[in-house]
Amino acid sequence: MQFLTLLPLALSTLGLVSASPIRREESPALTWHVSNFHVFHASNNFNYTFNIYGVGTANTPGFNTTCTGSNATTDLTSCDDPLIKSRILSEQYPLWNVRVEHEWIKDGDMEFYTYGEHNVTSATPQFTIPVTQEYGVA
Ligand SMILES: *[C@@H]1O[C@H](CO)[C@@H](O)[C@H](O)[C@H]1NC(C)=O
Ligand SMILES: *[C@@H]1O[C@H](CO)[C@@H](O)[C@H](O)[C@H]1NC(C)=O
Ligand SMILES: *[C@@H]1O[C@H](CO)[C@@H](O)[C@H](O)[C@H]1NC(C)=O
Ligand SMILES: *[C@@H]1O[C@H](CO)[C@@H](O)[C@H](O)[C@H]1NC(C)=O
Repeated sequence: MQFLTLLPLALSTLGLVSASPIRREESPALTWHVSNFHVFHASNNFNYTFNIYGVGTANTPGFNTTCTGSNATTDLTSCDDPLIKSRILSEQYPLWNVRVEHEWIKDGDMEFYTYGEHNVTSATPQFTIPVTQEYGVA
């Protein structure tokens, strides 16, 4: 794989700036849907599990998978679908910062990453994560 270009794309509420390989018009793929979010005490750490669903579009593959992990690591952990990774960090009690990454390859060698994060309490089983960052690497 050649890293010829790196295109960090800042998203805003106004949408995506043009001249990007990932074009979209108010794409539903910009919001991921989390359900069954559950954080529980496990030995010295907190473990978590949740289901996450992302709508597919022409540019973005959809997914629906289950993520599990522990706050013992700040590394992203692969979900059941290995294209999706997650991690949680404890914020000011009772908030958890949930971060999710989606990575996929298109047209053979274009690699795309999207990221999103959200702060929630462990008592919130359902929420959405806005996709705030997107990168394409050729
Ligand atoms: C995602 O998968 C879960 C578990 O398999 C299922 O219950 C749910 O209906 C699916 N959601 C969508 C939007 O397909
Ligand atoms: C908690 O998570 C860790 C790391 O992912 C795992 O090894 C452990 O089995 C989990 N414990 C429980 C009770 O789920
Ligand atoms: C995991 O979260 C618990 C509760 O906030 C905290 O006590 C512990 O230090 C955290 N672990 C790490 C490695 O941050
Ligand atoms: C989550 O909370 C932390 C600490 O208050 C804050 O720095 C961060 O911007 C928040 N993230 C989101 C996505 O709201």
